[in-house]
Amino acid sequence: MKTPVSVVIESVGAYIPPKVLSNADLEKIVDTSDQWIFGRTGIRERRIVAEGMSTSDMAIEAALSCLASSKVPAAEIDLIIVASASPDYAFPSTACIVQHAILARTAAAFDMEIGCTGFIYALATGAQFISAGVYRNVMVIGAETLSRFVDWTDRNTCVLFGDGAGAALLTQGPAGEGILAFHLGADGSQWNLLSLPAGMARLPASEQTLKKGLHYIHMEGRAVFKFAVKAMDVSLKALLDKLGKTAGDIDLLIPHQANSRIIDSACQRFNIPREKIMMNIDKYGNTSSASIAIALYEAYSEGRIKKGDLVVLVGFGAGLSWGSLAIRW
Ligand SMILES: CC(C)(COP(=O)(O)OP(=O)(O)OC[C@H]1O[C@@H](n2cnc3c(N)ncnc32)[C@H](O)[C@@H]1OP(=O)(O)O)[C@@H](O)C(=O)NCCC(=O)NCCS
Repeated sequence: MKTPVSVVIESVGAYIPPKVLSNADLEKIVDTSDQWIFGRTGIRERRIVAEGMSTSDMAIEAALSCLASSKVPAAEIDLIIVASASPDYAFPSTACIVQHAILARTAAAFDMEIGCTGFIYALATGAQFISAGVYRNVMVIGAETLSRFVDWTDRNTCVLFGDGAGAALLTQGPAGEGILAFHLGADGSQWNLLSLPAGMARLPASEQTLKKGLHYIHMEGRAVFKFAVKAMDVSLKALLDKLGKTAGDIDLLIPHQANSRIIDSACQRFNIPREKIMMNIDKYGNTSSASIAIALYEAYSEGRIKKGDLVVLVGFGAGLSWGSLAIRW
């Protein structure tokens, strides 16, 4: 029998747009306050992509940052997966644009659209190609330009989201290291709690859709909040069961950065102390598919991940969807 190939994270990278939009800036745009936003979400500021730049530009920068600290050259990347809910175009895929720009000429390329759970789904997918022995090196990117899809007059949503990109290069590794297990889930019956209704096949852009603001993010905040707490719970538990581990074995938990209260509530249930949780929501807000990728990059860059650590990623989002993934670093 063929021994399954281990899949490790070779390197990580990110692109953070330099433009900061603080809660104080938002106070000038909508009827809100730093006290409300920080108190309800843990967000102090978020980043906004520069005019003229878009999702692929940030994805390219994140990929280049990832390659800069990697032994694998772009020419040896076999597959590029971009997770994004805000791709440049309906088609072509953003991954194809990245492939061209980073000179990964022999790489296959496709996008995945699973809302904020996208990066976890994409890591799990990329890992399958490697463990099956089909590919050696897979670049996984989470990239979002959500600032172009929020209604800047709607205080319920515009305070929450931000732009950015993160990347991880997957490759073959020694047995016992790398991605140990993952858990993915979805509940399509609740798809309408979080959506971008217009601009595609169901509701093509028209004067009506523009007037009704249907090309902006629509969200039932309270219902999504409840779902998110439960999804983190279910997904973490399923993952720990698969691993035969307890929450106490986790060295660093990197959750999707949507709301610090969602993270706190789930972590309290598992009794995971604050110092074992990566949080950067205060600086970036919710960057959807990019959030875990950026947090992973920052945690690694800050020296919070050591060799041998059990690192667990967990996320949830539109779909509704959820997922978790464990890595022995
Ligand atoms: C959006 C969210 C922060 C709102 O917090 P909440 O405690 O549920 O607040 P509610 O929506 O019940 O609103 C409470 C009040 O605050 C008001 N409010 C909403 N946004 C506000 C803002 N930015 N500033 C000030 N007040 C605001 C509401 O209008 C409401 O006022 P009312 O009671 O007079 O009607 C919270 O529901 C949330 O985080 N949900 C999950 C969102 C998420 O994670 N989405 C992405 C998933 S990947």
